[in-house]
Amino acid sequence: MDKLLLAYDGSEPAKHALEVATDLAKKIGAKIYILYVVDVNAATELFGEYSGKIAEELMEKAKEILKEAMEKAKEKGVEAEEVVEAGTPAEKIVDVAKKIDAYMIVMGAHGYSGIKRLLIGSVSEKVIRMSDRPVLIVKNPKHHK
Ligand SMILES: Nc1ncnc2c1ncn2[C@@H]1O[C@H](COP(=O)(O)OP(=O)(O)OP(=O)(O)O)[C@@H](O)[C@H]1O
Ligand SMILES: [Mg+2]
Repeated sequence: MDKLLLAYDGSEPAKHALEVATDLAKKIGAKIYILYVVDVNAATELFGEYSGKIAEELMEKAKEILKEAMEKAKEKGVEAEEVVEAGTPAEKIVDVAKKIDAYMIVMGAHGYSGIKRLLIGSVSEKVIRMSDRPVLIVKNPKHHK
């Protein structure tokens, strides 16, 4: 239980998940890995390609998103490491969880594009389906003390 993987896309629900993941990590003395996946398929659809300047800019944006999350984790005194991948978000989340041997994956119920009528977003759903380890879906803002 010494490693938690937080899937983080910078959205409000992911921020709630960050709160829960850092509190949990602190309590159990775990290290938290914060992963952002640059969605290559979405980028290719949007820009017609994923390479060169576009890939560079998306990577920059990824780093910005992660920087904010890393600061939050450090404020709480939790050991954290950022991870950036490019690919299909759900697949990469499951891959990285295996690679680092995370005890648990923590993620938001929704992300940016959320159709709120649905219980959870497609990335969360796919991760639950594909992962062989516990997945914690953070549905609501936690009760802040
Ligand atoms: N690119 C990503 N990198 C890392 N984590 C992600 C990424 N996209 C989503 N997540 C994680 O999955 C959670 C749920 O997001 P998801 O994308 O499934 O919902 P959505 O954006 O509302 O719906 P959809 O993408 O299916 O339209 C987020 O809170 C975040 O924890
Ligand atoms: Mg999404």
